[in-house]
Amino acid sequence: MEEELRKLEQEAVAALNEIEREDGLESFRVRYLGRKGSLSSIMRGLAQVSREDRPRLGRLANQVKRKVEEQFNLKKKALATAREIPAARLDLTLPGRRQPLGTLHPVTQVMEEMCSIFEGMGFAVAEGPDVELDHYNFEALNIPEHHPARDMHDTFYVSESILLRTHTSPMQARIMEKHDPPLRYIAPGKVYRCDSDITHTPMFHQVEGFLVDRRVSFADLKGVLSSFLRSMFRKDLALRFRPSFFPFTEPSAEVDIGCVICGGAGCRVCKRTGWIEILGAGLIDPEVLTRVGYDPDTYSGFAFGLGVERIAMLKYGIDDIRLFYENDLRFLARF
Ligand code: DAH
Repeated sequence: MEEELRKLEQEAVAALNEIEREDGLESFRVRYLGRKGSLSSIMRGLAQVSREDRPRLGRLANQVKRKVEEQFNLKKKALATAREIPAARLDLTLPGRRQPLGTLHPVTQVMEEMCSIFEGMGFAVAEGPDVELDHYNFEALNIPEHHPARDMHDTFYVSESILLRTHTSPMQARIMEKHDPPLRYIAPGKVYRCDSDITHTPMFHQVEGFLVDRRVSFADLKGVLSSFLRSMFRKDLALRFRPSFFPFTEPSAEVDIGCVICGGAGCRVCKRTGWIEILGAGLIDPEVLTRVGYDPDTYSGFAFGLGVERIAMLKYGIDDIRLFYENDLRFLARF
């Protein structure tokens, strides 16, 4: 009887494996598990077995029955699941749907490139607060209250003494206050002005740079800026320093580059002059050095402020600054 049970178990499992459709299940159940099925008829035979063998064989018969029932239920479930996911809906050969990969914003890319060029020249990078004290944004830079230069800044005020910084120059004072010369720093970041048209957005980016040491001259400034611009635009650009005025530099200059669009012949972008203004710079005013406690007879320095969007526009031939902030993926994906 023991052998009969084991054989039945094997046979049943093999038969279950053969079943491929749900309508094959019922005949299996009747044949093996039904009241008149093979298992029941073997179990009926238990009555004829000797008393001492009966408990052991009874246990074995129940084990086999449970096992076959278990396998039967598993098969039933598997066939039902297969019916719910028809082959047509699950084509494993289809390629997966790709998640499009984002890229860094073009302004961020250009800003990182600018920083890495200056880092190559030994400048350290420092960042400061967007919400700034009037003191650092103006006072410390030799722009006292009622000074006409404040008008050019179209400042967003938070309170009487707190504002959104209008340029990255406050970082000059913040860093000089904390460290002694020699210093070489750049400070990239966002700046804010209440202004908006095709060349202005209320928020834009600048990279401030400055160097303080003994005997720093205008020639050092020219050397650093021309080597920066050559790396940035990857060609030998014409440079022009025009006299200008900033309260925190003396002398001051605005720097133009030969138009990268027309090569100097004159076009719409350079307003037919062949030149494009790209930054303000100068030797740090002795007054600014004095206010942070440096002796202007011992130390001198230069400073410059670059517009990041401006450089990005020239580098990539973009003629409307607002494109950077409309977040149109067709535009952003080009970078
Ligand atoms: N902070 C000035 C601006 O945003 C730009 C500037 C001019 C920065 C001359 C400087 C500088 O460091 O020396 O208009």
